[in-house]
Amino acid sequence: MNRFWSEGLRTLKPYVPGEQPKEGSVIKLNTNENPYPPSPRAIATIKEAADAGLRLYPDPDASAMKTAIARYYGVRAENVFAGNGSDEVLAVAFLAFFRNKLPLVFPDITYSFYPVYCELFGVPFKTFPIADDWQIDLSRAPAQNGGVLFPNPNAPTGCFTAVAEIDALLKRNADTVVLVDEAYVDFGGESAIPLVSKYPNLLVTQTFSKSRSLAGLRAGFAVGHAELITGMEAVKNSFNSYTMDRLAIAGAAAAMDDKEYFEKCRAAIIKTREATVVTLQQLGFEVLPSKANFVFARHPRHGGQELYDALRAKNILVRYWNKPRLADFLRITIGTDEEMATLAAALHAILAHR
Ligand SMILES: Cc1ncc(COP(=O)(O)O)c(C=O)c1O
Repeated sequence: MNRFWSEGLRTLKPYVPGEQPKEGSVIKLNTNENPYPPSPRAIATIKEAADAGLRLYPDPDASAMKTAIARYYGVRAENVFAGNGSDEVLAVAFLAFFRNKLPLVFPDITYSFYPVYCELFGVPFKTFPIADDWQIDLSRAPAQNGGVLFPNPNAPTGCFTAVAEIDALLKRNADTVVLVDEAYVDFGGESAIPLVSKYPNLLVTQTFSKSRSLAGLRAGFAVGHAELITGMEAVKNSFNSYTMDRLAIAGAAAAMDDKEYFEKCRAAIIKTREATVVTLQQLGFEVLPSKANFVFARHPRHGGQELYDALRAKNILVRYWNKPRLADFLRITIGTDEEMATLAAALHAILAHR
């Protein structure tokens, strides 16, 4: 802390991102990246874009990227907002829609970035409890709200909420924005994007970081009614017109267009996830039902910290939170079959010695 810091910054607790180890020997299952490389077509397009054209500013509308997303989802480019990762897209949405008198409401167990943005942007918020089976129960979202926000599937549980329940929420919550954060929807969930044509207050965000293997490129987007998108553009153009650089626009568009590669990768991850669930259950873990590229699992006899430390000592990095209700769990990203076999062998050895 420094005396020159603004008042709000003095009390702010920033989001703590998962560790990004510098050495390469670690099996990295801690930040839900994709173990497979990005689409070769995306890489080729990014390389082509790395030319003399970089002396010019990028297209502030990221039109090529928006058009590719619109084509994929059967919406119009005016329904798409593009940003530097979905965290940034969320930030823009917070500024555009949630600075209200009534609190933004989100589940009490969810993506830990949400309260940080609330703090940073002065957005009042209130949490509502998830159900005993760890599912988000949207009927518990307070009717009096300045907005409703939740990830689907949820993080860090991986639990998926049926789109019919989102539809029902939108029917009774017509006066504030409902934001569905679909960072992990491609791993077996179902997108709420088709509901956008029915509800002018629905905003859906997605990312290229997980199912499209482009966490390093920083590309995310939102789909919603054209007037919501216009509001978000107004916010973006009030702090940085060029959040998407030329390489990211070109690469994201190419990745979106390469459907065949995308389908292959996500199918592989889903298959590995299902096998991992069985393996973990055989080792005695309780595994929450996951539709994401990670699983959330706890062992009846060993706490999260103990297992996290033991795996770390074997060069396997997973995610662990020393927080109420979460401290028994490990969040394990789905890697390749080989990586998951190494994880299983390591857990087997750890549990055998205790
Ligand atoms: C629920 C959720 N939303 C959004 C994000 C942000 O992803 P990105 O900024 O890489 O698009 C993450 C990243 O882990 C996430 O877990």
